[in-house]
Amino acid sequence: MPRSLQVMSNTIVVGAQWGDEGKGKIVDFLTENTDVVVRAAGGSNAGHTVISNGQKYILHLIPSGILWEDKLCIIGNGVVIDPFGLLEEMAKLRSQGVKISAKNLLISETAHLVMPYHKALDRAREAKRGAKAIGTTGRGIGPAYADKIERNGLRAILLTQPEKLAVELRERIISNNEFIVAAGIEAVPVEETIEKVLAAAATLAPHITNTVVACHEAIQAGKNLLFEGAQGTYLDIDHGTYPFVTSSNTTSGGACTGSGVPPRMIDKVVAVCKAYTTRVGSGPFVTENDAIGDMLHNMGREFGATTGRARRCGWLDAVLLRYAVMVNGADELAITNLDGLDGLDEVQICTAYELRGQTLNYPPSTIEDIEACVPIYERHPGWKTDLSQIKNFADLPPLAKSYLKRVEELTGAKISLLGIGPAREQTLVA
Ligand code: IMP
Repeated sequence: MPRSLQVMSNTIVVGAQWGDEGKGKIVDFLTENTDVVVRAAGGSNAGHTVISNGQKYILHLIPSGILWEDKLCIIGNGVVIDPFGLLEEMAKLRSQGVKISAKNLLISETAHLVMPYHKALDRAREAKRGAKAIGTTGRGIGPAYADKIERNGLRAILLTQPEKLAVELRERIISNNEFIVAAGIEAVPVEETIEKVLAAAATLAPHITNTVVACHEAIQAGKNLLFEGAQGTYLDIDHGTYPFVTSSNTTSGGACTGSGVPPRMIDKVVAVCKAYTTRVGSGPFVTENDAIGDMLHNMGREFGATTGRARRCGWLDAVLLRYAVMVNGADELAITNLDGLDGLDEVQICTAYELRGQTLNYPPSTIEDIEACVPIYERHPGWKTDLSQIKNFADLPPLAKSYLKRVEELTGAKISLLGIGPAREQTLVA
């Protein structure tokens, strides 16, 4: 194992594309050498699939470190929490034998709550956007973050203060129902919702604490923290393909603000990307290619873990990766799903864009410009080998190695990990 993986220290794992890069699996792999796994942004819009000992686990809000008995998991202040979704996820994991207690799962008291009216607003706003809909996951993420920024949100600490929670909640449900009903969506029932939220609050209250202090105490005790990114760089509210983005900072900076661990305590950033590109929902996608999509879907791949939607697919886009490496300060790349390209005679990489006669090495900032970009491709012969059983990076076919080498050259980051299948064991250290 290279030194960089042995000495884990505090590491941020982010997605370098539009989410679904296989971060769950990479985080799970890195968790062996870590003590604390932290989620710092997003909500139950995320869907991290981890396959371990033949069992498939899907995590939405809970850090994947929960699958390891001795790890502390933290849902940080930057996350938005749907208490019902969280309880459902806890119940499902427990039914699969995972142990969850207030000792191994801490929830930030300053994280904001996603309430049923946020989900109704998400649906109502999407319907109103019509042809310009973002294609959200419908999990209420945008409206919950909007309330937070508007300083009108409800924070997790209220789950420990039932009387105050009931008052605040009643007021929010009633005022939001005006818009919800006007949009033709069924009103959120007031008393029934309060009752359900209070019941959920009683179960979750023991987990709620000051997680900033918990993170810092762990660091002071010499423990290693792993920040499990959600979504990807191009879904970031600032750096993504706005407005076709999610409502949080999914890039490495978000791990700091969303946990209270300052940038100077971060030692490494690993950016995860697929060996090709995918996106769900609407928005521009320069290297989109239906033939690749058909091939991957026919292999049973690229269906969303949260919504089950078939993902849009295309060739690897080094323009996006180069910018993602820059904006995240990524030292290393973890490439996943290389085996998805095993059957191809030829593999292509987009090395630059052409926009109205100009060559671009970084993506432009408006949707109109991105949509007008023409990908410039480089062609590589396919390795035509089943990679899924390979045990060592050194044993990869030379053509697969040269494809990866080229990705390193084009992005400026070193490949440290490679995924060749869904299982924990199918991760090779470069
Ligand atoms: P929202 O986060 O539900 O508001 O959705 C906004 C956009 O982000 C939509 O295009 C979603 O499909 C996309 N999105 C949100 N979470 C994920 C994810 O975990 N993987 C991939 N796409 C996501």
